Amino acid sequence: MSDVSEIPNYGLRDEIKAYWSERAATFDLSPGHEIFSEEERAAWHRLFTQHLGSGEGRSALDLASGTGVISHLMDDLGFKVTGLDWSETMLALARTKANARARAISFRMGDAEHTMEPDDHYDVVVNRHLVWTLVDPPSAFAEWFRVLKPGGVLLVVDGDFVNSTFRERILSRLAAWGQRLGWLRGDPVQMQPEMMAIHRSILSRVYFKDGARADAVSGLLAGAGFESIAVDTHLGDIHKTQARNWNVLKGMVRKSQHRYAIRAVKPARPSS
Ligand SMILES: C[S@@+](CC[C@H](N)C(=O)[O-])C[C@H]1O[C@@H](n2cnc3c(N)ncnc32)[C@H](O)[C@@H]1O
Repeated sequence: MSDVSEIPNYGLRDEIKAYWSERAATFDLSPGHEIFSEEERAAWHRLFTQHLGSGEGRSALDLASGTGVISHLMDDLGFKVTGLDWSETMLALARTKANARARAISFRMGDAEHTMEPDDHYDVVVNRHLVWTLVDPPSAFAEWFRVLKPGGVLLVVDGDFVNSTFRERILSRLAAWGQRLGWLRGDPVQMQPEMMAIHRSILSRVYFKDGARADAVSGLLAGAGFESIAVDTHLGDIHKTQARNWNVLKGMVRKSQHRYAIRAVKPARPSS
């Protein structure tokens, strides 16, 4: 990426958009992004079914849909899915993949913090790996509350990508040594140092720069009006299946991170 800091009015949101557009081409090559086994697909289906029930034609908005991985899982379960992302590059890949798989998923350009969707419109709103990068989560959560129907359900899948436990730091260091010495399998996609620096820089300036902990996210969701907020950290089945795509130490790192799903409900209108 060229140096964009000199462009007038170029803000953090533009940087985030440009960063993901740059990563789009290799996004689906990474385990943890695209799904590489039927076991992993089944584990995701179980998570979504547990928190959302089966689709039965209900409408779902997948925010920050990227290449459409989550949109496809929701489509598998019978939801009528709209994917929304602000990166044209991601959207182009998402549309190509949906066409190749003959899926009727609609992908459109938009900002997850200001969706331009009608009030009380969706049965379900989902997103994966969006919350940690939001510039203004309180207004984003108010927006998601607005577009959900009364009684509608939000499911957030995210994690704290800032703080690490001692165990995680040791495992990461050992994994890096092992990879450098050729003792351990390398990662399927190697992020360039320039992109890693951009990632760190973005992360240092977003709202959750100190890490998107589930309790902090839940507190903001409650502030936006959501009720029945439940945090699920039992994502072990998913992480176990993903771990097979990395070397053993990298797989262990994944399992020791603070990753979670949060289900929250927009209250149904009181009957008059
Ligand atoms: C880590 S990727 C996740 C993609 C997808 N949710 C998944 O889990 O496979 C982050 C995506 O969020 C999009 N994104 C980030 N902030 C956004 C925003 N405010 N509005 C729309 N898209 C956003 C990026 O363009 C990128 O496609």
